[in-house]
Amino acid sequence: MRVVAGLLLLLLGLCGSGAQGEAGGLGEVAEINQNTDPKHPAEESTQQSTKQTDPDVWTELRALRDMVVELNVQVELLQRENSVQATVLVSLESRLTSSESKTRDLEKENADLQTRLSSSESELLISKSRIDQLERENAVQATELTSLGSRLTATESKTSDLEKENADLQIRLSSSESRIDQLERENAEKPKVAFYTALTDAGTLGPYNTDITLKYSKVFTNIGKAYNPSTGFFTAPVKGVYNLQFTVFGYHAGYTGVQVYKNNQRIMYNSEKSSENYVPEYFTKSLVLELTAGDEIHLVLPSGWSIYDNSDNFSTFSGSLLFTL
Ligand SMILES: *[C@@H]1O[C@H](CO)[C@@H](O)[C@H](O)[C@H]1NC(C)=O
Repeated sequence: MRVVAGLLLLLLGLCGSGAQGEAGGLGEVAEINQNTDPKHPAEESTQQSTKQTDPDVWTELRALRDMVVELNVQVELLQRENSVQATVLVSLESRLTSSESKTRDLEKENADLQTRLSSSESELLISKSRIDQLERENAVQATELTSLGSRLTATESKTSDLEKENADLQIRLSSSESRIDQLERENAEKPKVAFYTALTDAGTLGPYNTDITLKYSKVFTNIGKAYNPSTGFFTAPVKGVYNLQFTVFGYHAGYTGVQVYKNNQRIMYNSEKSSENYVPEYFTKSLVLELTAGDEIHLVLPSGWSIYDNSDNFSTFSGSLLFTL
C-alpha cells in the first residue's frame, strides 16, 4: 500500500495542474500534496527527471492514474462497507453480550428448574406410593363401611321396634300409674272399721222382764267409731261386707244367749241353758254380713235370760269391715 501511495504521489506530482479537471477527487489529492509539502527536494528532482522520460510513459501513467481512481472508489466503498459492518458488529456484540447474559440466566434458571423438577419427581413418587396405600386403606374402609351400614340398618330397625315397644310400655305404665293413683286414693278413702268390746265388769245381767239391748260398755278398740257404747248399736258407715262376732258367757241357772238384730229385725237366735248356778257355759258365733251404709246391728238379751261378764272379759262383741262394695 505504501508503495502504491508513494507511486501515486509521484504520479500526481508529475501530472501537476494539467491533471486538474479530469477527476475532481484526484485534483484535490494533488493540491493537498502540494500544500502539505510543496518544496520537497526529492519531488522537485523527480519532476526534473520526469520531464526527460518517454511520451509512452505518460500514457502508462494515465492508465495507472485511472486504476488509482478506480481503486480509490473501491477503497471508499470498502470503507463504507467496513463502517456499516463495524456498526453491525457493535450491534452484534451488544446482542451477543445480551444473549450471553440471558443464556447465563437461563442456565441458572434451568439448573433451578432441574432441581425443582427432580424434587417434584421424588415428591411425585412418594405421592404415588401414598396414593396406593390410601387406595388400599380406602378399599378396606369401604368394606368396613358396608358392614357397618348393614349393622346400622339392623340396629335402626331394632331401635324402631324398641321405640314402638317403649311407647306401648309408656302408655301401659301411665295407665298403671293412674290406676295406682286411683287405688291409692280409694285406699286412703276406704273407711277403716274395727271394734272390739266387752260387756261389763258388773257380773250378771238379767234376767229382766223385757228384751233389752246389750250395751257393751268396755270399748277396747273402736276404729271408725262405728260402734256406739251409749246405745250398743253398730252402724255400718259404708256399703260393704262386715265380719261380726260375739261370745256369750252364762254363769247362772237358766237360759243364756243373745239375739242378733239388723235394723230392728232379728237375724239370729241362739240359746244355752244351765241347770245350776256357777257352771260356766259359753259359745261364740260369727256372722259375715253384706251391709249398706246406715245399716244397724245390735245384740238383744231376751226377757228372762241372763248373761255374765266381769273384768275377765267373758262376754265380748266385735266386728270389722272386710271390704267395701
Ligand atoms: C280385758 O281386756 C282389756 C283390754 O284388752 C285388758 O286390758 C284387760 O287386762 C283384760 N282383762 C283380763 C283379766 O285379762
